Amino acid sequence: MKTTRQLQEEILRLKKENDICVLVHAYQNHEILEIADYIGDSFGLSEKAKIATQKNILMCGVRFMAETVKMLSPDKKVILAHPDADCPMARQYDGQMIRKLKEENPGYAVVAYINSTADLKAECDACVTSASAVEVVRNMKNKDIIFVPDCNLGSYVASQVPDKNIMLVNGGCPCHSKVTVEEVIKARASHPNAKLLVHPECKKEVSESADYIGSTTGIMDYVRKNSYNEYIIGTENSIVEHLQYEFPDKKFYPLSKELVCTDMRLTTLVDVYNCVKGCGGEEILLDETTSVYAKKAIDVMLKLG
Ligand code: 13P
Ligand code: SF4
Repeated sequence: MKTTRQLQEEILRLKKENDICVLVHAYQNHEILEIADYIGDSFGLSEKAKIATQKNILMCGVRFMAETVKMLSPDKKVILAHPDADCPMARQYDGQMIRKLKEENPGYAVVAYINSTADLKAECDACVTSASAVEVVRNMKNKDIIFVPDCNLGSYVASQVPDKNIMLVNGGCPCHSKVTVEEVIKARASHPNAKLLVHPECKKEVSESADYIGSTTGIMDYVRKNSYNEYIIGTENSIVEHLQYEFPDKKFYPLSKELVCTDMRLTTLVDVYNCVKGCGGEEILLDETTSVYAKKAIDVMLKLG
């Protein structure tokens, strides 16, 4: 049996030999982060996908991330490391539902969170990630905007860009939206000196009680740039672990035990090993027309964000 270190060494050798760029979302396990070409949030991964020079890209994250890579690099072979790793929020709305919303609300632009299907993106004017949402919406010329599918991120954007008229729909992350104000009160009472850092997918009342609201990378960068010693982390609990590795002398506490994304946790180091050997994962193939329209919405994000 190979040890973790031996597997990682094999992966590093094979990805080089087989011309594979490994993109890893920050919610993945630490042992996968260690073999990445790039680690980041959804916005950072989209940017890297566009400029990666390798012929093959392996995405360790969830399906919409691999689809985004394929849209931005249609000539590359894109593999999703674990075929079942999906984002449940991305399944809440589809293209047909957006067409109906547009019919009912003529004159509105539609902005889609990147955690959505290609079919949905193809119906939208712009995509956003949690890191780029405020900037993209602020820079759009439209005043009337329907924001799908995450009502919590949409509500955060609306609070930051008050001159826009933002319509929300009923959708959101099943993991982040579970966090309650009672958990905030409890965590604050247990750790009175800690700063509370929260992802905008959390409910409005939770986000409003935070010291900082930001994307996965935003939260990690906040810790890197500040000298406080204690933090309560209001995003996927893998980030608590990664920050503890990076800053062993500081203290990190999870805001809630509910902050576990089962889909993000599906991918293992063995999955990555099998993929770089050429016998695992799923190759992402997209309908060409859908892909072209969806890419336009992503390009708007990369231009305005
Ligand atoms: P980030 O854009 O912060 O990486 O968020 C992606 C995600 O799925 C958060 O739940
Ligand atoms: Fe989707 Fe939430 Fe998991 Fe992110 S944490 S991938 S939004 S279910």
